Amino acid sequence: MKECVVVDGVRSPNARAHKEKGWFRNVRPDEILIKVYEALFERNPKVAPEDVEAVFCGTANQAGMQNDIARLAWLAGGFPESVPTNGIGQQCPSGMAAAEHAARAIMCGEGDIYIASGVEDMEKVPMAFAMDFPPRLLKRYKYEEIPMGATAEKVAELYKVKREDMELMAYWSNMKAAEARDAGKFAREIVPIEGEKEDGTKFIVDRDQWIRDNPSLEQMAAMKSPFKEGGVVTAATSSPLTVGAAALLLMSREKADELGFDYHIKYSGGVMAGCDPTVMGLGPIYAARKLLDRKGMTVKDIDIWELNEAFASQSLACLRELGIAENAPFENVNVWGGALALGHPLGESGVRIIVTLNNIMKTDYKDAKYGVAVLCGGFGNANASLWEKVEK
Ligand SMILES: CC(C)(COP(=O)(O)OP(=O)(O)OC[C@H]1O[C@@H](n2cnc3c(N)ncnc32)[C@H](O)[C@@H]1OP(=O)(O)O)[C@@H](O)C(=O)NCCC(=O)NCCS
Repeated sequence: MKECVVVDGVRSPNARAHKEKGWFRNVRPDEILIKVYEALFERNPKVAPEDVEAVFCGTANQAGMQNDIARLAWLAGGFPESVPTNGIGQQCPSGMAAAEHAARAIMCGEGDIYIASGVEDMEKVPMAFAMDFPPRLLKRYKYEEIPMGATAEKVAELYKVKREDMELMAYWSNMKAAEARDAGKFAREIVPIEGEKEDGTKFIVDRDQWIRDNPSLEQMAAMKSPFKEGGVVTAATSSPLTVGAAALLLMSREKADELGFDYHIKYSGGVMAGCDPTVMGLGPIYAARKLLDRKGMTVKDIDIWELNEAFASQSLACLRELGIAENAPFENVNVWGGALALGHPLGESGVRIIVTLNNIMKTDYKDAKYGVAVLCGGFGNANASLWEKVEK
């Protein structure tokens, strides 16, 4: 088997998905995706678009502006028609699935250079847009238990996750993201893109919109749950609605060496796991366990984790159940903040957490041998992937 290395990774700033307040409210998601592809080629001039074997792109809601966005954005961006694209739909894990498909193709020798990407605009194509549930599904599960917020409340109840602990997690997610941003850590991955402020002034967006500089525990404690009467999950402890795109340049190690690229990590295996959709946020427990078992590893072997913070309730339930951490601030989990602060543009996040993991392992955790990226997904799919420092 060949080895698949991460040559580069980029992402757009994550902007708020809001008709009046979102910095990208007048930018289409395909344009954001194009900018991210362009940045990959500008940063890596030794690779021409026609050298790419295929482009994978995860998107959760493949309707409206996001209908086959992988192909349409690639063509709209003027990239070669000869390069095929594959849009992947697996709800939130779509982006990670894109990375895993590309990595596996490289390892099997089907091609040497792939782009794995993900995109979502949760304002222009909202969650559940054009959704039409199968009637038989609604006989199997209660309709009111399927929406994401309801699953977060159910997990909090089942796993007795206290509201204060969730708010503490949101507090630290914002603090760490702000610290990473201010230290310039995201500069190596963010592609600046023109957007506009609330008052309509155009500006170059080079930072994430949702990060709260002064998160207030008092303010959070006063917020009400939008999901359930008397519920414990609030906007502060949910990943906010977001717009963003991310892309990875993945290559066989041979090709990367031939072209003289430097790289730090390689794909070391991944799994998908399924679970009850009414507690979909528990998916990372099953995915991480399956991955570690298959590799003959335990939680202790993993130096660094990127666990997508869909909701604080599910993240805490997973971290506790896996024996990784009890409460924020975490030592080796989401060290540059997570989706509670950065946002979670569904199809983008699975790629974004690998982009960030790569950068964390290249800088703050240079000696780390293993990193895991894991995320849950709507309707009960979860993906986990293992990334290993390459011994040179
Ligand atoms: C929770 C949710 C319903 C809230 O959406 P919303 O009602 O549109 O609310 P917003 O996110 O705009 O936030 C409402 C207000 O609370 C504020 N707020 C959010 N977090 C806050 C915090 N930590 N402290 C103080 N205020 C906060 C927002 O800034 C906003 O106020 P503003 O408009 O004055 O800025 C939505 O974010 C959601 O559905 N999230 C989950 C998404 C999801 O399911 N993803 C998939 C997971 S698998």
